[in-house]
Amino acid sequence: MKEELNVLIQAQYPLIYLVTSEEERSEQSIFAIAQSLKPQRRVYVWTVTHGIVEYGQPRSTQHNTVSPEAAIEWIIRQKEPGIFILKDLHPFTDDAGTVRSLRDAIASFKGTYKNIVLMSPIQKVPVELEKEVVVLDFPLPSMSELNEVLTNHIEQSRGRRLTTEAREKLLRAALGLTKDEAEKVYRKAQVTAKQLSETEVDIVLSEKRQLIRRNGILEYIEEDETIDAVGGLEELKKWLTQRSNAFTERAREYGLPQPKGMLILGVPGCGKSLIAKTTSRLWGLPILRLDMGRVYDGSMVGRSEANLRNALKTAESISPVILFIDELDKSFAGSAGSGDSDGGTSSRIFGSFLTWMQEKKSPVFVMATANRVERLPGEFLRKGRFDEIFFVDLPTPEERRDIFKIHLSKRRSDISRFDLDQLSKMSDGFSGAEIEQAIVAAMYEAFAQDREFHQLDIIAALKATLPLSRTMQEQVTALRDWARQRARPAAASVAEYQRMEF
Ligand SMILES: Nc1ncnc2c1ncn2[C@@H]1O[C@H](COP(=O)(O)OP(=O)(O)OP(=O)(O)O)[C@@H](O)[C@H]1O
Ligand SMILES: [Mg+2]
Repeated sequence: MKEELNVLIQAQYPLIYLVTSEEERSEQSIFAIAQSLKPQRRVYVWTVTHGIVEYGQPRSTQHNTVSPEAAIEWIIRQKEPGIFILKDLHPFTDDAGTVRSLRDAIASFKGTYKNIVLMSPIQKVPVELEKEVVVLDFPLPSMSELNEVLTNHIEQSRGRRLTTEAREKLLRAALGLTKDEAEKVYRKAQVTAKQLSETEVDIVLSEKRQLIRRNGILEYIEEDETIDAVGGLEELKKWLTQRSNAFTERAREYGLPQPKGMLILGVPGCGKSLIAKTTSRLWGLPILRLDMGRVYDGSMVGRSEANLRNALKTAESISPVILFIDELDKSFAGSAGSGDSDGGTSSRIFGSFLTWMQEKKSPVFVMATANRVERLPGEFLRKGRFDEIFFVDLPTPEERRDIFKIHLSKRRSDISRFDLDQLSKMSDGFSGAEIEQAIVAAMYEAFAQDREFHQLDIIAALKATLPLSRTMQEQVTALRDWARQRARPAAASVAEYQRMEF
């Protein structure tokens, strides 16, 4: 990114929008760039509290530059080369005067060595400037920047020297945090443990989890189940198992591309979310859930975009990682076309997400699930967006047998007293979730009568249930017809699934 910023400044881009909440770090980078240029540029910083102040100089405000318009006019008048950082201008860009003076500034910069950098934690570009502005994200600290933080911390606290391994682990654990956050976390780990060492990695990690949780959009998922807790879906399991080591150095050396992501479509309650979550264990990668509902924030224009950016940036900084987006259809429903009632926010969000997916270089594997294809924007389904689109159908007879076995074994060690084949036969049209519910219902029944539960209790529970596949037969049939042509079946035998009728 710094490279990019450097290039933009040298290429005389008049207006650069830098999205960041780390003002100090960003200013330092800009200053470093300014000094490396020929001719060297001065750096000025404008805030609404102090007006324009030269970077690194004692705080003496340039005359009367507190109002945005006056500040921009002052910038226009400057003859010397310079980079002018305007911090948090976004609340003022609703004002016609401010926007106009920015446009005047841009026009006046032709042939000069002047650039304006708008620096703000949220992205809000006035329509009038959309064509002239370049938006850049300031990235979270890299390993080497964190290394500086850690070194400073150890020097200041007169701590013991770390081994190379311990240092690397502590740095890796802090990836995804801002510089300030990393400092805080190292300090806290030190206070707790007296001495910073390899064992404090866990403290750093758990602090990081909390910080990530606090932003409310990403969530670390801890899943105890392994992929063996999922019945059936053999094709899907095989695909995932084959890619267990896809994010290793070895795979890169072999020449394999990094997997981008997968979409799992299917009937409700058939294990989509479950298998997505167990992939974390299978691949040995952390899994973060992106809560799209929380990305949307109507409180301020640009807030939602900033939320999404920050979440994706955090995910990238702790990659390799699995980014789990459950119920993708609900997240992007508004952007599918007509239902645009939110002033275009959802289609903008959708657009930024697609662009990110397209361009991302970091190993973030997107795992998305959905069950309403008609609500899913068509762009998602286009070839090449995801590595594979799987369709999880209602379980086949063998799969139902498998699911009964898994859920009965989870609750009782001796399951030989159950006739799995009969249960499988009796549960035609049931989803995995409904099978599990039938077992639980049978257990409640028997428990209330103070006895062990049996085959017949389960059969009674099955008979008392009207599965979703019947109550929502039309939707399920429509989904199947759709998926049959476009997605890869997750179950073992294609022939089997195509024969299935209910
Ligand atoms: N194939 C399966 N094997 C074992 N258990 C299953 C299976 N399918 C569903 N279940 C049980 O049902 C529960 C709910 O399934 P899950 O949440 O994965 O369904 P889903 O496909 O994501 O449904 P939805 O579309 O409603 O989100 C699981 O936690 C699990 O206990
Ligand atoms: Mg689900």
